[in-house]
Amino acid sequence: MSELNQKQLLELVTSVNVAPGNARVRALVARVVGDLFKTIDELDVSADEFWKAADWLSRLGTSGQVGLITAGLGFDRLLDIRADEADERAGRSGGTPRAIEGPLYVAGAPLSKVEARLDEGNSAGEVFVMEGQVRTLAGQPVAHALIDVWHANSQGGYSHFFPGLKPYELRRRIETDAKGHYRFRTALPPGYSIPPNSPTSELFEALGRHGHRPAHVHFLVAAPGQRTLTTQVNIPGDTYIDDDFAFATRDGLIVELERGVAPAGYESLGISAPFVRSRFDFVTQPAATAGEASPAARLARVQATAGRG
Ligand code: DHB
Ligand code: FE
Repeated sequence: MSELNQKQLLELVTSVNVAPGNARVRALVARVVGDLFKTIDELDVSADEFWKAADWLSRLGTSGQVGLITAGLGFDRLLDIRADEADERAGRSGGTPRAIEGPLYVAGAPLSKVEARLDEGNSAGEVFVMEGQVRTLAGQPVAHALIDVWHANSQGGYSHFFPGLKPYELRRRIETDAKGHYRFRTALPPGYSIPPNSPTSELFEALGRHGHRPAHVHFLVAAPGQRTLTTQVNIPGDTYIDDDFAFATRDGLIVELERGVAPAGYESLGISAPFVRSRFDFVTQPAATAGEASPAARLARVQATAGRG
């Protein structure tokens, strides 16, 4: 191989091939590698710094925390902002705003009809019921919609990612009734924080940033003919409600809490004392394509990465 300057090297790296490969991957890699070459040159990155970063990336991958970093660096919200912009250009609006899925979704939670207990009867924390309806933009109930719901326990940990929780604890799928109604009982979740002593926390410490999210509950709402909605709601009063490390809180997604609700009518959820309730309706848009109505591609992606964390 001949002597090379930086420009010639980049040219070679992004052009040598023995087959056409994938044009999109080639274009993206050429751009990202070119940007990194430039960063290394302009910020005068030393060999030690470079190999330290490479080691950090390896440890990040091994730890299964790539999705934590993407959220904290704003990429997840960026994708939502771009999806909102695309909707605006296409004249699509209305309904419950989307909000990032986050890295902690697990497909295949137990399925119940109309109502469920997420806490499996062993929860710490305040008894919390969320209930409402899935509706179309026109106000029609969405019968037999599937609501996938998941959130953190009293220590801020999610099942499948945090020790001490049973599989699918605080995760359920609920099928709405003919009038689109759902309800579930759980424990009012606290906030979440990135795992300490981890590749993720190392980066955020170096950035002088905190890794806290305000208390939230995640949802994936799907029904035939309706656009799948990925969103989350926030519990009011949290210190981090306007300072989410994942930049994912949105207007219209902060629920109202009613405290001291009488237990009558909630016996089937094992409730016999006053509790905290929130009413929240999900309003979904019509699907423009069959793919939009089915989270199949999303579920396949989760399946492919099962066993992380
Ligand atoms: C992260 C954790 C969450 O619970 C969430 O909803 C979004 C992001 C994270 O650790 O990056
Ligand atoms: Fe979360």
